[in-house]
Amino acid sequence: TPDYQLAPSILSADFARLGEEVDDVLASGADIVHFDVMDNHYVPNLTIGPMVCEALRKHGVTAPIDAHLMVKPVDRLIGDFIDAGATYITFHPEASDHIDRSLQLIRDGGCKPGLVFNPATPLSFLDHVMDKVDMVLLMSVNPGFGGQSFIPATLDKLREARRRIDASGRPIRLEIDGGVKVDNVADIARAGADTFVAGSAVFKARNEADPHRYDSVIGDF
Ligand code: DX5
Ligand code: ZN
Repeated sequence: TPDYQLAPSILSADFARLGEEVDDVLASGADIVHFDVMDNHYVPNLTIGPMVCEALRKHGVTAPIDAHLMVKPVDRLIGDFIDAGATYITFHPEASDHIDRSLQLIRDGGCKPGLVFNPATPLSFLDHVMDKVDMVLLMSVNPGFGGQSFIPATLDKLREARRRIDASGRPIRLEIDGGVKVDNVADIARAGADTFVAGSAVFKARNEADPHRYDSVIGDF
């Protein structure tokens, strides 16, 4: 069986106590911190940037940080996130003028590069850069907001992405983002995903007995 990883999206965390929220989900069994960066330009929302990533590292977070850049242009922020301690850096191919160069910038900075595919973005963007990605991230909602519903057509796209990754023979993670819940995650895993972003499903399910724990929902995944 694949090495499944759960990546809570801190977009749905309490930003007023972010360090504690990240500590809590990691202590409750999460594997990766999914860090949504929105610029009010590429997507219609504004969130957090490299200073917050750096602050989490200074706070003592050692888990992988998965920086999902929904920004345009991307290259300058790539440098900032390398310096801020990101582990994965993923971006949307439509937002970069030179996709191969942006991927190479991430790798040269010692981070793991990935491409993100909106629901209507074709996987053919992978054709000539498969050797340069460590992650393929499929959006199962249109990016910009948490709490939207999973778009079912993403399951076929996941199967196609899984075929491409297996054919490459490279250890590329296949991540899914948007509307992932306890009751659809099994279908999503069967379609080939191995890394699951969940924002609202995790952070809206704080344990009643201990508000610092998310064990029950994380265990259900
Ligand atoms: C949306 C973000 C997601 C978002 C997912 O643009 O990329 O990571 O936080 O939220 P849920 O899991 O609530 O759909
Ligand atoms: Zn995301």
